[in-house]
Amino acid sequence: MVIEPRCGPLRAGLVARADQGEALRVRQHRIPAIIAVALAVACGASSSSPAPRPALPTRPTADQQASADRLLTGPDWYRNAVFYEVNVRSFQDSNGDGIGDLAGLVQRLDYLKELGVDALWLMPIYPTAFKDSGYDIADYRSINAEYGDMAAFEKLVAEAHARKMRVFMDLVLNHTSDKHAWFQESRSSKTNPKADWYVWSDTASRADIGSCTSGTPAVFGPSWSLDPMRGQYFFHRYYPEQPDLNYRNADVVRETLDVARFWLKDENVDGYRCDVIGQLFESPDGCTMIPETVAYIQKLRAVLDEMPEKAMASEPSNLNDSTAYFGNGSNMFHMSFEFGFGYFWGLAFSATDKKLIEDSIKKTMTYPKGSQPGQLIGSHDGVRAWQAAAAETWRYRSGALLSMTMRGTPFIYYGEEVGLRPGTQVVVDSRDSARTPMTWTRGAAHGFTTGTPWLAFGEAPDDTSVEAEDSDPESMLTYYRQLLAFRRGHAVWGVGDMRAVSLDSAQIVAFVREDASERYFVAVNMTDEDQTGSATDPLAGSATAVFGDGELAISGGSVHVTLPARGAAVFQIR
Ligand code: NOJ
Ligand code: CA
Repeated sequence: MVIEPRCGPLRAGLVARADQGEALRVRQHRIPAIIAVALAVACGASSSSPAPRPALPTRPTADQQASADRLLTGPDWYRNAVFYEVNVRSFQDSNGDGIGDLAGLVQRLDYLKELGVDALWLMPIYPTAFKDSGYDIADYRSINAEYGDMAAFEKLVAEAHARKMRVFMDLVLNHTSDKHAWFQESRSSKTNPKADWYVWSDTASRADIGSCTSGTPAVFGPSWSLDPMRGQYFFHRYYPEQPDLNYRNADVVRETLDVARFWLKDENVDGYRCDVIGQLFESPDGCTMIPETVAYIQKLRAVLDEMPEKAMASEPSNLNDSTAYFGNGSNMFHMSFEFGFGYFWGLAFSATDKKLIEDSIKKTMTYPKGSQPGQLIGSHDGVRAWQAAAAETWRYRSGALLSMTMRGTPFIYYGEEVGLRPGTQVVVDSRDSARTPMTWTRGAAHGFTTGTPWLAFGEAPDDTSVEAEDSDPESMLTYYRQLLAFRRGHAVWGVGDMRAVSLDSAQIVAFVREDASERYFVAVNMTDEDQTGSATDPLAGSATAVFGDGELAISGGSVHVTLPARGAAVFQIR
């Protein structure tokens, strides 16, 4: 859009706000509706200057929703779903004890449904000593009393299902809590029935474990600890309060597969996010995804396949390659997280270099047919997306746009949609900075609790509250709603083909998404300067920007993209 001279002051004001870090755009639809109307009135819409596009809808159309309903039915539902990772403890407290709970989550299901969430992944909600935020499970078959009881859980599942939302549990099989009855028995002597359920040794090593250590020694420390009761060392990939189960014991294999069957079959859960599942077996030749672990995962998959429409997602230990987790595309994981993007997108923006992101795009396209990446920009293990984006709203939004337009299933980390900022209080470990309570309202306790929250809120809790963002056309929440509404009901985003377009600019990430009925070109400028890029490319047709700002020219076997500073665009090709 060409700004008329008499619109100069208005334009200057908008640009000034944009320079202050707000993602306002003079061009196209990121202008709030009210300002767009003011511009049109003040500046006059003429034939030479097309009227600014109206703000993008924050709700899908009825047709989109009907299409989404079809795509979310049947065994492939998870490919077309949007997941939401819930830290139950920090989401909504219902009884004033300052701890989020299952009844609180039920109260917020309508909010999630309206946002466009189709499935929940609950961080561990089992009894725990909370040495690793619940990833130290003391009983696989019941619910942490702080969060509710089995009846409360069943109510949650029923309420979610009534809203056509599915529920994933966190399945943490590599280790238990040292408070688990199995470990208590195992440590009691060298001859008890469960003596061999964990990995014991007279020294802080064992030949068959080789040199395997914890995933992150800097966080979890040494991986052998002496148990004074049994007078032997036990192996743990994580904290000493998380002893590793011994999967070379057939009873452990049988019992853990039964645990998986229990929640799926008896409790009607829809699937699992599987914690560090590549680390079940160790050997001197390898520490992750060795053949014995692969065989176990295939058995686990067989348990899921006993029932219709169950699915599971793996947390891969190899951050840049999930190939080993997909098997032949249908005998291991339905989904695996694409950490090559999810953990490193912020670094790519800081370095203003698309390579890390392009590598991830290329890698996902090498996975076996049937594989489904899980896309994310934040989780309970990383920093808040706000930090990954170096507190730049435009980077945050571009990261989110990428995660929701690259091939795969998006996983939103709770509070990401309002731009939750890091906290400073530590209860368990430094990762608590990204596990702070959700901010629903302005003011004390932010609608999270009527009591004292178990962990202090992150920065700027008023500004990042749902209340503050709800009707603000420039808020992160509005952006997320627009993005989710934009992609809703279009199968191409979940399962369409993807290919990277290697533009002659290291600062623009670009790729094509297509299926039998639609084709899109996505381009993201990683810098705060205008950028252009060209490539020889077989793309044909004409391009229309349908989300974001920019221009795309397609002619005779080449493409030429122009993006404004901090801009990103999705073009539809017809
Ligand atoms: C991965 C989980 O995501 C992390 O939070 C936890 O500390 C380890 N696994 C151990 O369970
Ligand atoms: Ca509570």
